Amino acid sequence: MNVMSNQFASGPVLDVQGLSKVFSVNSEYIPVLSGLSFQAGPGEFICIIGQSGCGKSTLLKLLAGFIPPTSGRILFKGKNITGPGPDRCVVFQEDALFPWLTVEENIGFGLKGRALSAAEKQARVNRFLDLVGLTEFKNYLPGEISGGMKQRVALARVLVLSPEVLLMDEPFAALDAQTREQMQNLLLSLWEQLKQTIIFVTHDVREAVVLSDRTMVMGRITGKTIINPIHLVPIPLDRPRIQNSREFMELAAQVNDPS
Ligand SMILES: Nc1ncnc2c1ncn2[C@@H]1O[C@H](COP(=O)(O)OP(=O)(O)O)[C@@H](O)[C@H]1O
Ligand SMILES: [Mg+2]
Repeated sequence: MNVMSNQFASGPVLDVQGLSKVFSVNSEYIPVLSGLSFQAGPGEFICIIGQSGCGKSTLLKLLAGFIPPTSGRILFKGKNITGPGPDRCVVFQEDALFPWLTVEENIGFGLKGRALSAAEKQARVNRFLDLVGLTEFKNYLPGEISGGMKQRVALARVLVLSPEVLLMDEPFAALDAQTREQMQNLLLSLWEQLKQTIIFVTHDVREAVVLSDRTMVMGRITGKTIINPIHLVPIPLDRPRIQNSREFMELAAQVNDPS
């Protein structure tokens, strides 16, 4: 049993146990993840950082249930994840909105199959349009709004589904610095209101330290290592965080070189 198993009083939301993933391409085996274990608690914000190709996106796809593990397992509130579910939603870097649907229709799209009245659906869409500051733009098409606004639509259209877990794969990486900071603040304010468990992949150390409760620094498996080296760095700073404070810099240095 790993020492973290009693960390969350009501049990972890995500419990990754000895997770391994091997891809096979042209009869060659490519081991990407091996023996990876960690847990995420209710409402916890975890950032994952690590060099390109170390398996961050693969891990997110496994958590989403888009691909199956080669071995090991992932439990969501104690139950094995066997496929995608409405409890776990994903936001990617280049989120493909439906270009022919308006902002409002994109946000409401995922509610189509839900057992809610039309009025309830509309109320939810209105609430999330407001939360991401796009009420005025509800009738615009994705092609008519900025990259930052598109990512706000991408965020709203998964949050409207009330997922317990939000999986984010470098969602702000393509945005300019100023828009990115606005999106980080927006995400934190939404998270403080909605309290999902967030797993957020980034390659930006500052972003990880600004956002997360804990940052997982992931290493690559090589011929010699048999399990993924990971370091979990707690970020015990109050929010909003002052990026040029000494504590912030020290934590950023620790995330940069956790060994
Ligand atoms: N579907 C796949 N088939 C074969 N190899 C893959 C597949 N997906 C990812 N990989 C390989 O797995 C490794 C990790 O990829 P990825 O998870 O995208 O890394 P990261 O997101 O950390 O940059 C890379 O070497 C990549 O080429
Ligand atoms: Mg990736």
